[in-house]
Amino acid sequence: MCMNTVTELAKKVNPCQRNFDLTQSIPQEHIDYILQAATSMPTKDNSNSYEIIVFTKEEHTRKLLDTAFHYVDMQGNKRALYCNGQVYSRCTILFSRPKNNDKKSSDESDMMIGIASASAALAAAELGYATGFCKCIHNKTINKFKKSIGLEYVSNPRLMLGIGIPNKNFDRHDIVIDNKSVNRKEARPEKNISITFA
Ligand SMILES: Cc1cc2nc3c(=O)[nH]c(=O)nc-3n(C[C@H](O)[C@H](O)[C@H](O)COP(=O)(O)O)c2cc1C
Repeated sequence: MCMNTVTELAKKVNPCQRNFDLTQSIPQEHIDYILQAATSMPTKDNSNSYEIIVFTKEEHTRKLLDTAFHYVDMQGNKRALYCNGQVYSRCTILFSRPKNNDKKSSDESDMMIGIASASAALAAAELGYATGFCKCIHNKTINKFKKSIGLEYVSNPRLMLGIGIPNKNFDRHDIVIDNKSVNRKEARPEKNISITFA
Protein backbone atom coordinates (compact mmCIF):
# COMPACT_ATOMS: atom_id res chain seq x y z
CA MET A 1 0.00 0.00 0.00
CA CYS A 2 1.27 3.46 -0.87
CA MET A 3 1.52 5.68 2.25
CA ASN A 4 0.69 9.29 1.70
CA THR A 5 2.91 12.08 2.91
CA VAL A 6 0.78 13.20 5.83
CA THR A 7 0.85 9.66 7.21
CA GLU A 8 4.62 9.50 6.89
CA LEU A 9 4.99 12.86 8.64
CA ALA A 10 2.61 11.81 11.41
CA LYS A 11 4.75 8.73 12.03
CA LYS A 12 7.76 11.03 12.42
CA VAL A 13 5.86 13.25 14.87
CA ASN A 14 4.64 10.39 17.06
CA PRO A 15 7.91 9.57 18.88
CA CYS A 16 8.79 12.22 21.43
CA GLN A 17 12.26 13.75 20.95
CA ARG A 18 13.57 14.50 24.45
CA ASN A 19 16.84 16.28 23.60
CA PHE A 20 18.05 18.66 20.92
CA ASP A 21 21.32 19.92 19.49
CA LEU A 22 21.29 23.40 21.00
CA THR A 23 24.13 24.59 18.78
CA GLN A 24 21.73 24.47 15.81
CA SER A 25 19.33 27.36 15.60
CA ILE A 26 16.26 27.26 13.37
CA PRO A 27 16.07 29.80 10.52
CA GLN A 28 13.32 32.40 10.87
CA GLU A 29 11.71 31.33 7.57
CA HIS A 30 11.29 27.80 8.96
CA ILE A 31 9.72 29.15 12.15
CA ASP A 32 7.39 31.33 10.08
CA TYR A 33 6.36 28.30 7.99
CA ILE A 34 5.63 26.24 11.11
CA LEU A 35 3.58 29.09 12.63
CA GLN A 36 1.68 29.55 9.40
CA ALA A 37 0.81 25.86 9.41
CA ALA A 38 -0.44 26.17 13.00
CA THR A 39 -2.52 29.30 12.52
CA SER A 40 -4.01 28.21 9.18
CA MET A 41 -5.98 25.46 10.87
CA PRO A 42 -9.65 26.07 11.63
CA THR A 43 -10.95 27.42 14.93
CA LYS A 44 -14.58 27.48 16.02
CA ASP A 45 -16.32 30.52 14.46
CA ASN A 46 -12.82 31.67 13.45
CA SER A 47 -12.32 32.68 17.06
CA ASN A 48 -8.91 33.66 18.47
CA SER A 49 -9.17 30.70 20.74
CA TYR A 50 -5.50 30.33 21.67
CA GLU A 51 -2.30 32.35 21.84
CA ILE A 52 1.17 31.37 20.73
CA ILE A 53 4.49 32.32 22.28
CA VAL A 54 7.67 31.28 20.50
CA PHE A 55 10.86 30.83 22.51
CA THR A 56 14.05 30.74 20.47
CA LYS A 57 16.67 31.76 23.03
CA GLU A 58 18.41 28.90 24.78
CA GLU A 59 18.44 30.84 28.04
CA HIS A 60 14.64 30.91 27.90
CA THR A 61 14.04 27.28 26.93
CA ARG A 62 16.48 26.23 29.68
CA LYS A 63 14.11 27.98 32.07
CA LEU A 64 11.10 26.32 30.43
CA LEU A 65 12.69 23.03 31.39
CA ASP A 66 12.30 24.05 35.04
CA THR A 67 8.59 24.65 34.43
CA ALA A 68 7.91 21.29 32.78
CA PHE A 69 8.46 18.74 35.48
CA HIS A 70 6.50 16.18 37.34
CA TYR A 71 7.12 13.45 39.88
CA VAL A 72 7.20 9.83 38.78
CA ASP A 73 6.68 6.83 41.01
CA MET A 74 9.78 4.72 41.25
CA GLN A 75 10.18 1.24 42.71
CA GLY A 76 9.58 1.14 46.46
CA ASN A 77 7.12 4.04 46.16
CA LYS A 78 9.92 6.56 45.96
CA ARG A 79 9.12 9.61 43.88
CA ALA A 80 11.65 11.13 41.53
CA LEU A 81 11.66 14.51 39.88
CA TYR A 82 11.41 14.09 36.17
CA CYS A 83 11.76 16.93 33.69
CA ASN A 84 10.51 17.08 30.13
CA GLY A 85 13.61 17.60 28.01
CA GLN A 86 11.52 18.13 24.90
CA VAL A 87 10.89 21.77 25.85
CA TYR A 88 14.63 22.53 26.01
CA SER A 89 15.12 23.27 22.32
CA ARG A 90 16.11 26.14 20.04
CA CYS A 91 12.44 26.68 19.18
CA THR A 92 9.74 25.84 21.67
CA ILE A 93 6.19 26.93 20.92
CA LEU A 94 3.91 27.53 23.86
CA PHE A 95 0.16 27.37 23.25
CA SER A 96 -1.94 29.22 25.81
CA ARG A 97 -5.61 29.75 26.44
CA PRO A 98 -6.64 33.39 26.18
CA LYS A 99 -7.74 35.33 29.26
CA ASN A 100 -11.27 35.19 30.67
CA ASN A 101 -12.14 31.78 29.30
CA ASP A 102 -15.17 30.19 30.91
CA LYS A 103 -15.36 26.40 31.24
CA LYS A 104 -16.94 25.88 27.81
CA SER A 105 -14.50 28.12 25.93
CA SER A 106 -11.58 26.57 27.84
CA ASP A 107 -12.54 23.14 26.57
CA GLU A 108 -12.86 24.56 23.07
CA SER A 109 -9.49 26.29 23.33
CA ASP A 110 -7.84 23.01 24.24
CA MET A 111 -9.36 21.41 21.12
CA MET A 112 -8.08 24.24 18.94
CA ILE A 113 -4.64 24.03 20.55
CA GLY A 114 -4.60 20.33 19.71
CA ILE A 115 -5.47 20.98 16.09
CA ALA A 116 -3.02 23.88 15.65
CA SER A 117 -0.12 22.18 17.42
CA ALA A 118 -0.52 19.03 15.34
CA SER A 119 -0.29 21.08 12.19
CA ALA A 120 2.83 22.84 13.55
CA ALA A 121 4.45 19.51 14.35
CA LEU A 122 3.68 18.11 10.88
CA ALA A 123 5.17 21.22 9.26
CA ALA A 124 8.28 20.92 11.44
CA ALA A 125 8.65 17.26 10.45
CA GLU A 126 8.24 18.20 6.80
CA LEU A 127 11.23 20.55 7.22
CA GLY A 128 13.25 17.70 8.73
CA TYR A 129 12.98 18.58 12.42
CA ALA A 130 12.20 16.30 15.33
CA THR A 131 9.51 17.37 17.79
CA GLY A 132 8.31 16.70 21.30
CA PHE A 133 5.02 17.69 22.92
CA CYS A 134 4.64 18.49 26.60
CA LYS A 135 1.45 19.24 28.48
CA CYS A 136 3.09 18.93 31.87
CA ILE A 137 3.43 22.57 32.91
CA HIS A 138 3.90 23.69 36.50
CA ASN A 139 1.72 26.77 36.83
CA LYS A 140 3.48 28.47 39.72
CA THR A 141 6.93 28.11 38.13
CA ILE A 142 5.87 29.19 34.65
CA ASN A 143 4.04 32.21 36.07
CA LYS A 144 7.24 33.29 37.81
CA PHE A 145 9.23 32.78 34.61
CA LYS A 146 6.65 34.67 32.49
CA LYS A 147 6.82 37.57 34.91
CA SER A 148 10.63 37.61 34.81
CA ILE A 149 10.62 38.15 31.04
CA GLY A 150 7.65 40.53 30.84
CA LEU A 151 5.09 37.98 29.66
CA GLU A 152 2.80 38.09 32.67
CA TYR A 153 -0.16 38.83 30.35
CA VAL A 154 0.07 35.32 28.84
CA SER A 155 -2.80 33.77 30.65
CA ASN A 156 -3.02 29.99 30.71
CA PRO A 157 -0.17 27.91 29.25
CA ARG A 158 -1.48 24.52 28.14
CA LEU A 159 0.92 22.82 25.74
CA MET A 160 4.51 23.14 24.58
CA LEU A 161 6.08 21.83 21.40
CA GLY A 162 9.87 21.60 21.22
CA ILE A 163 11.34 21.60 17.73
CA GLY A 164 14.87 21.00 16.54
CA ILE A 165 17.66 18.75 15.42
CA PRO A 166 18.25 15.81 17.78
CA ASN A 167 21.45 15.79 19.83
CA LYS A 168 23.39 13.12 17.96
CA ASN A 169 25.40 12.15 21.04
CA PHE A 170 22.30 10.79 22.78
CA ASP A 171 19.34 8.54 22.25
CA ARG A 172 16.01 10.35 21.73
CA HIS A 173 14.77 9.19 25.18
CA ASP A 174 17.60 10.88 27.08
CA ILE A 175 16.91 14.11 28.91
CA VAL A 176 20.09 16.08 28.43
CA ILE A 177 21.25 19.03 30.50
CA ASP A 178 24.73 20.53 30.11
CA ASN A 179 25.62 17.71 27.73
CA LYS A 180 24.85 15.00 30.27
CA SER A 181 21.93 12.60 30.32
CA VAL A 182 20.17 13.31 33.61
CA ASN A 183 17.26 10.95 33.05
CA ARG A 184 15.47 8.87 30.41
CA LYS A 185 11.88 8.31 29.51
CA GLU A 186 11.40 5.08 27.64
CA ALA A 187 8.95 4.85 24.76
CA ARG A 188 5.38 4.20 25.78
CA PRO A 189 3.68 1.01 24.53
CA GLU A 190 2.19 1.27 21.03
CA LYS A 191 -1.24 2.82 21.02
CA ASN A 192 -4.22 0.99 19.59
CA ILE A 193 -6.87 3.57 18.80
CA SER A 194 -10.34 2.12 18.46
CA ILE A 195 -11.89 2.74 15.05
CA THR A 196 -15.42 1.64 14.26
CA PHE A 197 -17.06 1.90 10.87
CA ALA A 198 -20.76 2.35 11.50
C1 LIG B 1 -0.87 16.60 23.57
C2 LIG B 1 0.34 15.84 24.05
C3 LIG B 1 0.86 16.09 25.29
C4 LIG B 1 2.00 15.41 25.73
N1 LIG B 1 2.50 15.71 26.97
C5 LIG B 1 3.57 15.04 27.42
C6 LIG B 1 4.08 15.32 28.71
O1 LIG B 1 3.56 16.17 29.46
N2 LIG B 1 5.18 14.66 29.12
C7 LIG B 1 5.77 13.71 28.34
O2 LIG B 1 6.76 13.11 28.76
N3 LIG B 1 5.33 13.44 27.08
C8 LIG B 1 4.25 14.08 26.61
N4 LIG B 1 3.77 13.83 25.34
C9 LIG B 1 4.55 12.96 24.46
C10 LIG B 1 3.91 11.59 24.27
O3 LIG B 1 3.96 10.92 25.50
C11 LIG B 1 4.67 10.85 23.17
O4 LIG B 1 4.51 11.56 21.96
C12 LIG B 1 4.19 9.43 22.97
O5 LIG B 1 4.28 8.69 24.17
C13 LIG B 1 5.02 8.71 21.93
O6 LIG B 1 6.41 8.89 22.18
P1 LIG B 1 7.33 7.76 22.86
O7 LIG B 1 7.60 6.75 21.79
O8 LIG B 1 8.55 8.47 23.30
O9 LIG B 1 6.56 7.17 24.02
C14 LIG B 1 2.64 14.46 24.89
C15 LIG B 1 2.10 14.22 23.62
C16 LIG B 1 0.98 14.89 23.21
C17 LIG B 1 0.44 14.60 21.82
